[in-house]
Amino acid sequence: MAEPAIRTVPVALGDRSYDILIGRGLLASAGAEIAARLPGARAIIVSDDDVARHHLEPLERSLAAAGIAAATFTVRPGEGSKSYPALQGVVEATLAARLERGDVVIALGGGVVGDLAGFAAGIVRRGMRFVQVPTSLLAQVDSSVGGKTSINSPQGKNLVGVFHQPNLVLADTATLDTLSDRHFRAGYAEVAKYGLIGDAPFFAWLQANRAAVFAGGPEREEAIAVSCAAKAGVVSRDERESGERALLNLGHTFGHALEAVTGYSDRLVHGEAIAIGMVLAAEYSARMRLCGPDIAATIAAHFTEAGLPTRLGEIPGDGLTVDALMAAIAQDKKVARGRLNLILLRGIGQAFIAKDVSTEDLTKFIAEKLG
Ligand code: GLY
Repeated sequence: MAEPAIRTVPVALGDRSYDILIGRGLLASAGAEIAARLPGARAIIVSDDDVARHHLEPLERSLAAAGIAAATFTVRPGEGSKSYPALQGVVEATLAARLERGDVVIALGGGVVGDLAGFAAGIVRRGMRFVQVPTSLLAQVDSSVGGKTSINSPQGKNLVGVFHQPNLVLADTATLDTLSDRHFRAGYAEVAKYGLIGDAPFFAWLQANRAAVFAGGPEREEAIAVSCAAKAGVVSRDERESGERALLNLGHTFGHALEAVTGYSDRLVHGEAIAIGMVLAAEYSARMRLCGPDIAATIAAHFTEAGLPTRLGEIPGDGLTVDALMAAIAQDKKVARGRLNLILLRGIGQAFIAKDVSTEDLTKFIAEKLG
């Protein structure tokens, strides 16, 4: 039988450069890939109970076959595990396993596990090695790449963390087979985001190939590889988000506010919130006469086809008010003298950082959108 194709996307960061490997069945070769890059390292696998049920055993087998001794630590699934107690759990389990700085923390899971395990890897013994094994689409195309790690504070999301780049990202696309349709769709919003930010031909390719990406097969891997290459490029040019990396936040100012107001709950998951957020960003861009209204309509039509929400009215439940949303935006972003920065669009693939957007005008816009 022919070996399944493995794609390699490099992230160029000088002596901290690393590869993103993408392919079906990669979990089986995780041990060999890690041993080749980090010879002699021992490991702790951090996962959540749901992901562990599906994927822990194959990963453990693969590590054992490569001679890598591994402890494991699992947390409860969900955003609640990006917490101080869960961080303490990972840190103490890593120390109890007597792991050293040259040993490796392996994150097996979605964005929550990756952010939590990465933060622990960044602080235990002042920084251990770290491997991401992302098992959700969102984690494979976004959160596992680029070194942002964090937990949440009662004051807000992602407020406590460090930049800590992984040594390797292993994206086994077969793990997406166990992902719910809803979470696959939500991850797809981040895929489409790369087209909207800076790659109009990729957005057009997604318009033509969306069904095939959802069905699996080579188009899915292609979409993941293009997304990772886009993110790798941005991260290597602006690791610490002093400029261009902020473009990755297209739709996120609105999206984070929507997540906050809906209590980071099942009412609206992250990808759904940023799908609505990206349509709002396009609509606000049209309001500022930066682009025509057709851009928002095109984006909304594509998201609707993908089964994603595009309008505030589609969010179930109540509590969605102008005041609540503007308060959440003010908490999430630096608002100085009634102005803030927002990622806006001059067209598909033409995102830019708009400085000095007026919160007064944004408030009027949101009021209109809430009807
Ligand atoms: N997810 C946005 C970033 O990594 O910068």
